[in-house]
Amino acid sequence: MQSAEQRAQWGSRWGFILAAAGSAVGLGNIWRFPYVTGENGGAAFVVVYLACVLLIGLPLLWNELAIGRAGGRDAVNSFLAIRPRTGFAITGVFCLLCCFLVLSYYGVIAGWTVGYAFTSLTRRHTEFGQFAADPKWVIPLFGVFMLMTILIVHGGVQKGIERWSKLLMPALLAMAVLVILRSLTLPGAMAGVEYYLRPDFSKINGSVLITALGQALFSLSVGWGLMITYASYVKKDQNLVSSGFWVVITDTAVAILGGFMVFPAVFAFGMKPDAGTALTFKTLPAVFEQMPAGNLVGCVFFLLLMVAALTSSISMLEVPVAWLLDDRKLSRNVASWGVGLLAFAIGIPSALSAGGSKWLTEVKFLGKTGFLDIMDLLVGTLLIVLIALLCSVFTGYVWKPANAVEELASGCPGFKKPFLGSVSLAGIWSVFVRYVCPIVIGFILVNLVADLAGKKLF
Ligand code: PFF
Repeated sequence: MQSAEQRAQWGSRWGFILAAAGSAVGLGNIWRFPYVTGENGGAAFVVVYLACVLLIGLPLLWNELAIGRAGGRDAVNSFLAIRPRTGFAITGVFCLLCCFLVLSYYGVIAGWTVGYAFTSLTRRHTEFGQFAADPKWVIPLFGVFMLMTILIVHGGVQKGIERWSKLLMPALLAMAVLVILRSLTLPGAMAGVEYYLRPDFSKINGSVLITALGQALFSLSVGWGLMITYASYVKKDQNLVSSGFWVVITDTAVAILGGFMVFPAVFAFGMKPDAGTALTFKTLPAVFEQMPAGNLVGCVFFLLLMVAALTSSISMLEVPVAWLLDDRKLSRNVASWGVGLLAFAIGIPSALSAGGSKWLTEVKFLGKTGFLDIMDLLVGTLLIVLIALLCSVFTGYVWKPANAVEELASGCPGFKKPFLGSVSLAGIWSVFVRYVCPIVIGFILVNLVADLAGKKLF
């Protein structure tokens, strides 16, 4: 085993917060959140989403941070270090698999954003269907994106991930402000704001709840072992409680801002807001084509998406790389190139599943069509819900909340201080991690599986 001194650490508290927020803020916020909100009741969905983030996402994020810093190792060995021989290391193995497999298709979508940043700038009209189906564009763009990801992770925790997150996250926020200002000041923009924020409570039902929770876990990077890995680089005296809170605030703010980039512009040009996943790559480019200086706005928007995706993909690569370093004693050089190139190879079927290969595009499984969508369902939805459940059961019943509370309170003594009678934040959190989270997530998992098997439970 490596000694703790040899292990990488973040250079500063803000470096860690920006890297973790960089992981959380990704395609999920700017590409997925707006259209899911539009489809599921607008402002009413936002309310349910915020409840999921606060009541399930934040407690589980703190839980992963506690496991990571207490274990002080990669996602698998942190479980082993805390409670050996309990079988929970399998949760860590799921985490490695999840990050690696999602990276393989996340990089494909991120590659599209790189292509669109160029075509927007040069005002080249790009028909999404034709573009995504053309392997001679899609695969090299995917390759370029993976190369950037590998090079940053190859640089290491401080000199790669932290340094780039400190640079890219402020750039992302600045670009977001620019796009929002342009979008909101277009004539007719208010109709979009109204569509986005108008609550339609009649749409709230069981499946909206599942969608909101799935979106919260995906967006916060909770249920992937990512927060475990990143927290293992945090010093003992640092405040994990407030850091976790900042990550949640940033991620939620960018998700909500995502809607303000998209909908006002879509409505200002009389386009339909219900294109679902195609909103970003079909509707928006058409909007940019009509807008004054739309090529610049379009380019900034797709660069923003690329940056958001990049700070997320580096974190996904870091999870298996950290395991190879800690457990297999490989060098960072070999691990980052090896896993990165393998993810690129495994991602080729996903890259060909938007028209490049007839079979990969049309293959059907559990109601989903196309290889990429099937992967997203199995790994990006089901597996993360399962991991989130296992993590809360681990702390709730195996490690025990009191031990996790000690870890979180190191660097944040206020966590244990009663603020109302004998009630403390730590006390509330313990109830959540032991009862509320496993029950709610277990219920949702059963429903998801029943739904896939064609039996609607609620
Ligand atoms: N949170 C990212 C998003 O919203 O796009 C996705 C993600 C990235 C999840 C990295 C997990 C992770 F480790």
